[in-house]
Amino acid sequence: MSHPFDVAETAAAYATKSPQEILKLAFEHFGDELWISFSGAEDVVLVDMAWKINKGVKVFSLDTGRLHPETYRFIDQVREHYGISIDILSPDPAALEPMVKEKGLFSFYKDGHSECCGIRKTAPLRRKLSTVKAWATGQRRDQSPSTRSEVAVLEIDSAFSPADRPLYKFNPLAQMTSEEVWNYIRALELPYNALHERGFISIGCEPCTRPVLPNQHEREGRWWWEEATQKECGLHSGNIISKI
Ligand code: ADX
Ligand code: SF4
Repeated sequence: MSHPFDVAETAAAYATKSPQEILKLAFEHFGDELWISFSGAEDVVLVDMAWKINKGVKVFSLDTGRLHPETYRFIDQVREHYGISIDILSPDPAALEPMVKEKGLFSFYKDGHSECCGIRKTAPLRRKLSTVKAWATGQRRDQSPSTRSEVAVLEIDSAFSPADRPLYKFNPLAQMTSEEVWNYIRALELPYNALHERGFISIGCEPCTRPVLPNQHEREGRWWWEEATQKECGLHSGNIISKI
């Protein structure tokens, strides 16, 4: 691995480069220590691009226990399609069980998604990221005008860096539009999540995701009972913190 680099300078230099060039840079610096975070949706594009550069690419998914059956099937389909292993991360039962016992399985509709997301997504992610040097996500600017319009192609992860070192976060698809992502999926005939055939654009957990109506923004199908500016689950909370 080569030495760390100036993040702001590199992010500016790569701001308009292709996702593949950004991924190549990430692999050049971090090699097999770069992990791809795959949600089981259209971010299959990121897995595809990374795998074409490095067949040994490392991938993880956060299994919240609440994903759609279609998403579980799709994650496994991707595993087989690329012949890769995918680390499936589960929530800690010691945190999950007391919350569900006390509040039931749908507490987020009453008191917001942050507690449930904290246990089912953020804590397992933090555990994983404490062991990695760099990760790459499928975040895009066009996914959320309220929280993602300034997503950089490379940043120091302000939410998950351990106290003693920086954690590098790559967002190679930052500049891609939904249309470009879907042109890529179709042109290369990539597998995709069957929910996309039923009106879902953005896909998260089953109770917190619904299809959108024509001309509704994709983010409106996520945590639809909450404020647009709060629609981050903790995975990318840097997006919210940086706005306050
Ligand atoms: S979320 O924070 O609102 O749930 P979103 O669904 O837009 O995120 O996905 C953006 C990126 O976050 C994905 O491309 C992926 O890198 C990461 N991500 C989201 N959910 C998961 C998940 N369950 N497992 C792994 N990565 C995820
Ligand atoms: Fe819980 Fe919904 Fe967050 Fe999934 S998206 S972890 S079900 S609050």
